[in-house]
Amino acid sequence: MNKVLTINGGQPLKGTVAVRGAKNLVPKAMVAALLGDSPSVLRNVPEIKDVDVVTGLLNIHGVTVDKDSVTGDLTLNPAAAKSASSKEIDAYAGDSRIPILFCGPLMHTIGEAFIPDLGGCRIGDRPIDYHLNVLREFGAVVDKAPNGITISARNGLHGAKLHLPFPSVGATEQVLLTAVKAHGVTELKNAAMEPEIMDLISVLQKMGAIINVRSERTLVIEGVTQLRGYDHTALPDRNEGASWASAALATGGDILVQGADQKDLSAFLNTYRKLGGEFDVVGDGIRFYHPGGELNPLVVETDVHPGFMTDWQQPLVVALTQAQGVSIVHETVYENRFGFTDALVRMGATIQLHRECLGSNPCRFGQRDFLHSAVITGRAPLHGADFVIPDLRGGFSHVIAALAAEGTSNASGIELINRGYEHFLDKLQGLGADVELRDAAL
Ligand code: EPU
Repeated sequence: MNKVLTINGGQPLKGTVAVRGAKNLVPKAMVAALLGDSPSVLRNVPEIKDVDVVTGLLNIHGVTVDKDSVTGDLTLNPAAAKSASSKEIDAYAGDSRIPILFCGPLMHTIGEAFIPDLGGCRIGDRPIDYHLNVLREFGAVVDKAPNGITISARNGLHGAKLHLPFPSVGATEQVLLTAVKAHGVTELKNAAMEPEIMDLISVLQKMGAIINVRSERTLVIEGVTQLRGYDHTALPDRNEGASWASAALATGGDILVQGADQKDLSAFLNTYRKLGGEFDVVGDGIRFYHPGGELNPLVVETDVHPGFMTDWQQPLVVALTQAQGVSIVHETVYENRFGFTDALVRMGATIQLHRECLGSNPCRFGQRDFLHSAVITGRAPLHGADFVIPDLRGGFSHVIAALAAEGTSNASGIELINRGYEHFLDKLQGLGADVELRDAAL
């Protein structure tokens, strides 16, 4: 039966939440285990749906994934890796974008990979052309079928000189996971340099890979013939940390985020301070709070690391509805990441979307038909509304807007948030939120 979350707003969120391993690293480290010739151990693993999806995909490929019942650490053993049928793989179609990253490891292990239609948040077209192009450069043969794509290494995989049109996180991971065991040297220019990429490089280096990180977004990978298992503790989820930080500001609250790491949140912390939020870096995390008084309007542009991360944008927009004056947000990573603002407007926010680039960061979406700049006028008193959770970050943002609002809201589709936020409802309740999950009336 469908569930509805009833949210009674108007209470500041106060208390402590702990964040564990990053959603945007853990599933990729799990895929990397396929490359080893001995078991890997992954620690600090969050209980999120993306981990379940990758566990299922690894299982059908013969990789055992054992979870420690006390710590939640995973032991991944690829000794019996094998092909899975396209029917088995297809059962995971639409669940996540991670299957595309199985290409390199599966080609190295069993010679071919089948990729179903991908899922993930609907925040733009999210094509996979960069992935397929780099795989072809490694020598892979790509065959498109009606229900997915078959990729094989009939002629072996060799190093390549690559240049990404945009520093894509996924395409950079694709290159890393393929190049580490390809024959010869790979050079990747215009690579993504997110902390989650650096942590994946640490994982691969522990396995025996040779990866040089050069200046100017360049990675040089010397292929090796054999990799072993790793023992790794995943870096904390900075995007979850930033989400709770914005929740503290939007609701006038005070949240200690245990596990939040200052160095990976640097761009976020600067923006938070300019907006008028306070934070204290303490021993085991960062305390984020609203110091009272007015919040300041801001101009923010999303960017690849080390810029202001796109995944921080949606929760921050909710906080900006509570700032006194006009704020501008220019989204330069995804062409369609403002769909979630419709529900905020229904809750009383004043937000206008524009096709023009309202900012100076180089952007691929200007003069095209994409509403990728937002003008937010505050301070807007918010009131409750009913809404359907559209995607992970948009959904989180709707829930914190409802908590900042006067009155009652009802949210359906709340399970989407479990894709990337561990124990979301427990954490909300621990922060004093008045929320109740109940069966939807038919
Ligand atoms: N792009 C292409 N072609 C490709 C690949 C990407 O045009 O073949 C474009 C995308 O459409 C997008 C841009 O390049 O406009 C950046 O996409 P990227 O490949 O960097 O994103 P991703 O790897 O699919 C990961 C995270 C996202 C995060 C982005 C950017 C995971 C599972 N997802 O996605 O996380 O927003 O990097 O940092 O790691 C989230 O956590 O809510 C989330 C969406």
